[in-house]
Amino acid sequence: MSTIEAQYIARTPNSAAMGPRAQKVMPAGDTRAAGYHTPYPLTIASAQGVTLTDIDGNEYLDLSNNFTSLLHGHAYKPIVDAVSRVIGAGTAWPARNNTQVELAELICERVPSIDLVRFCNSGSEANMLALHVARTHTGRQKILMAQFGYHGSHEAFEAGYFGNTGDKAWPHTIVAPWGDAAAFEAILAEQGDEIAAVFLEGAMGASGLVQAPTEFFQRVIDATHRAGAVFVLDEVITLRLSTGGHQVNLGITPDLTTLGKIIGGGYPVGAVGGRADLMSLLDPTRGRIFHSGTFNGNPVTTAAGVVSYGHLTSDAVTRMATQAERLERHLADSAAKVGLPFSCRRVGSLLNMYFSDALPAASLTRDDSETMRLVHLAGMNHGLYFASRGLVVLSTIMTDEHITEMCSRFDAVFADVAVEAAV
Ligand SMILES: Cc1ncc(COP(=O)(O)O)c(C=O)c1O
Repeated sequence: MSTIEAQYIARTPNSAAMGPRAQKVMPAGDTRAAGYHTPYPLTIASAQGVTLTDIDGNEYLDLSNNFTSLLHGHAYKPIVDAVSRVIGAGTAWPARNNTQVELAELICERVPSIDLVRFCNSGSEANMLALHVARTHTGRQKILMAQFGYHGSHEAFEAGYFGNTGDKAWPHTIVAPWGDAAAFEAILAEQGDEIAAVFLEGAMGASGLVQAPTEFFQRVIDATHRAGAVFVLDEVITLRLSTGGHQVNLGITPDLTTLGKIIGGGYPVGAVGGRADLMSLLDPTRGRIFHSGTFNGNPVTTAAGVVSYGHLTSDAVTRMATQAERLERHLADSAAKVGLPFSCRRVGSLLNMYFSDALPAASLTRDDSETMRLVHLAGMNHGLYFASRGLVVLSTIMTDEHITEMCSRFDAVFADVAVEAAV
């Protein structure tokens, strides 16, 4: 066992002890694949601002922000206040509420392609609902998505995430390489009359923050429309990249947009928005799709969401991106000083680290897995919590001093990993 792993185990005895107990009642003792890692994940006790605390009392500067969903860190006072006002008045009501309408107005005002919006409870649900709308509109079954794209936990999308091969193949899913407009065009030209929808992320999230230029998106949108299919842009992660979503940065107009994470301010949320004629399929007075959900647009989530999304200003977007750029530069210098190969992809306030000289293509596999595993564990040993795939996520409450602190902790992490690699 590496020294880094031994240190992790020594610091987290209560999290270790939680493992066997949790494994008796949950597969691998966890309830979320993305958060699982070896030898075992932490058990979190509380969080405040930029800090996570585990059940052993260790504190971490939280660079995961719950996988991009906490735009303003933990227990952001304006959100706590908004939610507290609601909680005393009941949390689940059987009809429309005020903040639901406010959040819908905010989304429709800010995201230019969204005429009407429908809420649900997760980004996965939002993509399933968008697919339902597209299938109903076109009368077709198939979806086309980027290979290794991530649109949540549903077989059709999961198949694409794993490349749609072997036991992960799904009959209605077709994949094409991210960024390859000609491949999308060829598939749409040949099989377009069977394809209901084309799904793309604003920038690939789970597969390493890979971007694509406007030209790629526009060619795919045009080919989708030639085929009579629906173009869905998944902005579950990328909404934070401008006040109106990454579609504003790219200058594109999707038919439908799926949202989640930051529009719930830390509470479960999802939404589909888009062209009025498509969204009207969800109108119960016309009766084509019966879309319901006990907690859709509930007052807690929407009260939090109005504050969370409302506080995403252009200034905040720019400031976070500037801080992330500074961090990225520091990480590259710091790794070079101790002789660790390093490369990085950054999109605004998000960055993904790689410990290889060249950036890999959009993919689930990487050739630096062992180094990445050590960096992840050493990160926690030095009080930094980030996703095991090397994703670092900034929030609006991070100050320049927090970035300086991160930089010095990463120096210590990289130094430990360089020693281990030399052994
Ligand atoms: C691009 C994208 N789409 C959809 C989802 C699924 O959202 P949720 O985890 O809320 O179901 C995620 C989650 O990380 C995501 O990154």
